[in-house]
Amino acid sequence: MFSTRPLDIGQIRAFFPILNQQVYNTPLVYLDNAATVHKPFSVIDRATHFYQQDNANIHRGMYALATRSTTALEQTRLAVQKFIHAPEVENIVFTSGTTEGLNLIAATYGAMVVGVGDEVVVSEMEHHANLIPWQRLCKQQKAILRVIPIDEQGQLDLTHFSFTNRTKIVALSYVSNTLGTINPIQTIIEQAHEKGAIVVIDGAQAVAHMPINVTDLDCDFFVFSAHKMYGLTGCGILYGKKKWLEAMPPYQTGGGMVKQVTLTETIYHDPPYKFEAGTPPLASIISFSEALKFILSVGHSRLAVHEESLLVYALAGLSRMPEVKLVGTAAHKVGIIAFNLTNMHHLDVGLFLDAKGIAVRTGHCCTQPLMERFGIEGVVRISFAVYNTIEEIDLFLEALQQVIYKGNR
Ligand code: ALA
Repeated sequence: MFSTRPLDIGQIRAFFPILNQQVYNTPLVYLDNAATVHKPFSVIDRATHFYQQDNANIHRGMYALATRSTTALEQTRLAVQKFIHAPEVENIVFTSGTTEGLNLIAATYGAMVVGVGDEVVVSEMEHHANLIPWQRLCKQQKAILRVIPIDEQGQLDLTHFSFTNRTKIVALSYVSNTLGTINPIQTIIEQAHEKGAIVVIDGAQAVAHMPINVTDLDCDFFVFSAHKMYGLTGCGILYGKKKWLEAMPPYQTGGGMVKQVTLTETIYHDPPYKFEAGTPPLASIISFSEALKFILSVGHSRLAVHEESLLVYALAGLSRMPEVKLVGTAAHKVGIIAFNLTNMHHLDVGLFLDAKGIAVRTGHCCTQPLMERFGIEGVVRISFAVYNTIEEIDLFLEALQQVIYKGNR
């Protein structure tokens, strides 16, 4: 729909009903897209259509509504396969989100391959969802959790770090949810594979901003959430190499993941169904195909150009304020900026901005070890999506200047 013309942000914003509102009698400026992204009409309408016309469970009924539901869900699986360039549709498992995907891998693949004295590697910038499952696994298996440190810019510091023959799993975010740093995952995947380790990529903050090709990356697992890429909450994706999905035990058991059950034994379904026990969030999954269509219609390159222009503009504005201390200044980053003010607590900054209709994230952003690394309690974080504008950045910068003035009084 847009692919060759320059982006018309006004037109794009019209697709997002939530943006057209005032909070505290002032237009909403939503800059918390790393937490969740708003949904275009096409996604909302698809979910509504599902409930109004189809609402039947999948893979279970022989009637028309059930067939429509099942077909729509499997079409979404196919759309996801194409979107991330997975070799086969069977590589795509639906989960409830990135968190469940990571817990699933740790509890199944992790428990299967990690033994006493083995190593699992994470980094200092991981979201808690890509840290705690591995911490727990290592405690259970008496394995060692090794942590790739980060430098002052918020980039992985690999100078003194290497994988060993005991490294079994490397679990790493593609993009830091707090700093926006884009990690050199291609190199890390190659280095980990040389030692026989597998690589799990937390792609939650990457998928809405850059094209993903899991086949070229050659990662073993790649997980992400629909709600951070214009889809609804409750739908997550786990991509896994077929050989691992086949070898792994199921995560949860129940209806839909079996071929045959007797009172004493169960024969599990093949992947991906082996990992999809119970009724999934049907409307969230089915409407996700519209979110993918939306991103593809905008086009990854135009999306990246726009978000980069917002990043550059916002960073330039912040650099003119001496009270702003950026947290994370990596050379390669997406449109996420974390900072603190020298004269005001981050939570107070968030409250003041909220009073101006500006939504930002404050706090540790689910990355407490990262906060510890920088010796801070929390940050103010702004993060962009395709519908954000330069005018919104101006409103944010203006409001921030007022906060600074207040703090100086
Ligand atoms: N993981 C989300 C964030 O970074 C919630 O804000």
